[in-house]
Amino acid sequence: MLEALIFICFLLSLVFIFFKSKPQYPFIGDYLTIHANRHRLTEWTSENIRTSPTLTFLVRRPFGQARVITGNPDVVQHILKTKFSTYQKGFFRTNLFDLLGDGIFNVDGDEWKFQRQLSSHEFSTHSLRHFVEHVVDTELNERLLPILTTAAANDTVLDLQDILQRFAFDNICKIAFGYDPAYLTPSLPHAKFAVAFDDAVRISSERFRINTPVLWKIKRFLNIGSEKRLKEAVTEVRQFAMKILSEKKQELTDKSSIQSVDLLSRFISSGHSDEKFVTDIVISFILAGRDTTSTALTWFFWLLFKNPAVESEIVKEIKDKSDSLIFDEVKEMVYTHASLCESMRLYPPVPVDTKTAIADDVLPDGTLVKKGSVI
Ligand code: HEM
Repeated sequence: MLEALIFICFLLSLVFIFFKSKPQYPFIGDYLTIHANRHRLTEWTSENIRTSPTLTFLVRRPFGQARVITGNPDVVQHILKTKFSTYQKGFFRTNLFDLLGDGIFNVDGDEWKFQRQLSSHEFSTHSLRHFVEHVVDTELNERLLPILTTAAANDTVLDLQDILQRFAFDNICKIAFGYDPAYLTPSLPHAKFAVAFDDAVRISSERFRINTPVLWKIKRFLNIGSEKRLKEAVTEVRQFAMKILSEKKQELTDKSSIQSVDLLSRFISSGHSDEKFVTDIVISFILAGRDTTSTALTWFFWLLFKNPAVESEIVKEIKDKSDSLIFDEVKEMVYTHASLCESMRLYPPVPVDTKTAIADDVLPDGTLVKKGSVI
């Protein structure tokens, strides 16, 4: 009897030590810790990266494989460059497929390469010059500056984040579609397309934060709650994109000599008129340019507000360089450029990038990655 008691005590102690010393529990993994930090996942992730000697750590999802999380520059280079073809969209694609379909953010291999090549024309010097001198300059002078000037004159408070989101949305729609949604106008309208796009992105992103992904899949299957709204929002976005597409096709047929630099015209002119395919591409592009730019600018102005000495330097640089044409002018603004980079280093507009390993691998810091792991 005494022996049995000692044995049970011994077993209990082992179980106790196991649970106390391991933050990861059988079956539920790191569920409790992730749940407790669900409102500050980026901060929690950064803290864990900083305290790991290799700047890499593992997180276990309930019943799932370990996820590798890294902030190690060598590992990032390994994933995004050296072993680019091993690390694919995978799990990211599953979560974003309803919204992005087969757009550049959601495809790999030849499909990705093809879209990348066509999109890269949008970043040529010629396109960028056109973009800065015509699209951004018009949006600045005819919309952003008058709104800010009026607010300053009347001493009214503006939600700068909202203003910059509207600014970015107009710009990126003009680059992607050659279409002006006029979202940044003095009445600050609730443009249907912009609101639907916003809802679709927000609900799709929430799928990444759910600890048990099967939940959103059930909701989607039953067409209830947030998944029902996502379906409605995506339908609205796609219907809108299709409308623009057919107008654009007509426009290009009417004026066959037109030199359009927007992405949609480029795809149609190169013979790609499949509606689903072109819509997917354009939606990814709008997503790429919308929140990234507005988030970067919002943090930038917030930091300037906190650092008046930097603000003065930037104002001085703008005054010194403002004789040249706008596109050449920005290239000379070394201090402003450095300030923007520092702002994005401190507050990265895209703090997390997710890939899935399609083969077993070993990272430069020695971490083993199993095929199918999310990193
Ligand atoms: C501050 C602004 C921006 C930031 C921080 C940013 C950041 C990023 C990041 C982190 C990626 C993913 C890279 C990867 O997984 O390898 C990406 C991809 C991409 N971005 Fe941006 N971006 C910004 C602005 C823009 C703008 C304005 C556009 C379009 C006009 C754009 C178009 C794209 C495209 C097309 C891709 C996909 C590239 C590919 O898969 O090869 N981005 N961006």
